[in-house]
Amino acid sequence: MTNELPIGVFDSGVGGLTVAAAMKRVLPAEAILYFGDTARCPYGDKTPQQVLEYSLEVCDFLVSQGVKMLVVACNTATAAALPALQARYSVPVVGVVGPGARAAAMATQSSRIGVIGTQVTIASGVYEHAVHALIPAAQVYSLACPEFVPLVERGETSGAAVEEIVRNRLQPLKSLEIDTLVLGCTHYPHLQGVIQHVMGDGVRLISSADETAREVKSALEATGQSAGVRTAVPDRYFTSGDPLWMERALRRWLMDDTAVGSAARIDLNQVTVR
Ligand code: DGL
Repeated sequence: MTNELPIGVFDSGVGGLTVAAAMKRVLPAEAILYFGDTARCPYGDKTPQQVLEYSLEVCDFLVSQGVKMLVVACNTATAAALPALQARYSVPVVGVVGPGARAAAMATQSSRIGVIGTQVTIASGVYEHAVHALIPAAQVYSLACPEFVPLVERGETSGAAVEEIVRNRLQPLKSLEIDTLVLGCTHYPHLQGVIQHVMGDGVRLISSADETAREVKSALEATGQSAGVRTAVPDRYFTSGDPLWMERALRRWLMDDTAVGSAARIDLNQVTVR
């Protein structure tokens, strides 16, 4: 039964766990097959062509494991590869940019929206495009934050040193009178506390995680592929890097002690997927 199959979820590292956590809340019956390409993280400072190639390799692997849907839980990969992935696979492929833009458009009162993301995401202009499709007159201010992903991958998400880095980087956005800030990278919700503190309470932070989980739910319902009752298939977590590090991240970000022992290292160069 395809309804029993897991949903493949992919990110360059542990950022996509913010989306996986939302999926576990919104879709508790579904099983997740997660791949964090930690060995090649960050994607944000690579070229769009490299990100496309990495995304195809990871998604080929996930599809070879048998998934009923792919969730590209990475803004950078969504920006560089979503149309190519949607054209390549017969299963539905959901990205995070559309849901993030929708959540921002619903939240803003002033139509002055900030977007932060990796260099690849910001240079691609995908968020401006997606927000303007919803609010043509919106003012969208975009800023790349290259220091943020390495902080999160190292597990550094609070404290004075982190706050100083975040404050320095976000300084240009502070005077622009935005009322909404899109966390246009799935790693950034892990820095939410510091970012909110730096931007102040008048700025609403938007993570695409919840909206993406809702989009996945609608897509499963529309195609009659929901699992219904909790599938017997267990969640599995793959990394191209250190599985122990992935398990620590699972305990911390998914608060899932059952994840101990569930992470495995995969060398994509050694797997024949097709
Ligand atoms: N978490 C990813 C994103 O949403 C990628 C971060 C990176 O690898 O640079 O863009």
